[in-house]
Amino acid sequence: MTSGANVRVVPDGAALAEAAADEFLALAREAIAARGVATVALSGGSTPKAMFDVLAARGRDALAWDQVEVWWGDERTVPPDHPESNYGMAKRHLLDPLRIAATRVHRMQGERAPEEAARDYERSARDALGTPPVFDIVLLGMGKDGHTASLFPGSRGLEEGGAFVIANPVDSPLTNGPTVRLTMTFPAIAAARHTRFVVGGADKADALAGVLEGPRNQFPAQLVHGTDVRWLVDAAAAGKLTRSYS
Ligand code: 6PG
Repeated sequence: MTSGANVRVVPDGAALAEAAADEFLALAREAIAARGVATVALSGGSTPKAMFDVLAARGRDALAWDQVEVWWGDERTVPPDHPESNYGMAKRHLLDPLRIAATRVHRMQGERAPEEAARDYERSARDALGTPPVFDIVLLGMGKDGHTASLFPGSRGLEEGGAFVIANPVDSPLTNGPTVRLTMTFPAIAAARHTRFVVGGADKADALAGVLEGPRNQFPAQLVHGTDVRWLVDAAAAGKLTRSYS
């Protein structure tokens, strides 16, 4: 990651959720004003949960939610009602509380054969958003190994330069061993109008310092490029950064 990375450090997890929600709403309002719709690709894991709860608490008046199309950057190969499902988490914390219509929700079908699910998801995204599919907002988290979306260290998805959505075999302690994940690829992420990493917690501090200040191409998150990539991090995650950021 170049030293020119755009990084905003906020005090703690609660401030991170608020700041991420503020950023999301501002970018979504901008997209709706410009094109009548905001297309967003959500990240999974635990970090976005607090942000989704903030968005739900602010209610339907905070944004023209009926003009938001919800997609995902990655998904586990589990059914939608599985505790590990990124869609399931978003449904509980965001989609249901804000009554987002199912017609505007485009989940990755983790219950299907992964290759078919990835192929169909890419086709849906390209039909809706062009080639490459251009999302207004791509939200990304980062694991303590520097993975993002489901582009894990050593996985073949890191080299994918053609497809926009793939079934990516991964084997990581963070996935409790071998599994297959559905994930957008770096070309899909790079096409986004706005890419926002949201990273919190001291367990991410080593990886974040490596990604932002270490040698290039050591971590998957360093391979994320785009027209507007910014980081929202809390002080704990930023604890090992040596440079000053915005
Ligand atoms: C997933 C995510 C993944 C996540 C990181 C961080 O499906 O798990 O998309 O990329 O953002 O693993 O996860 P936490 O927020 O749980 O630390």
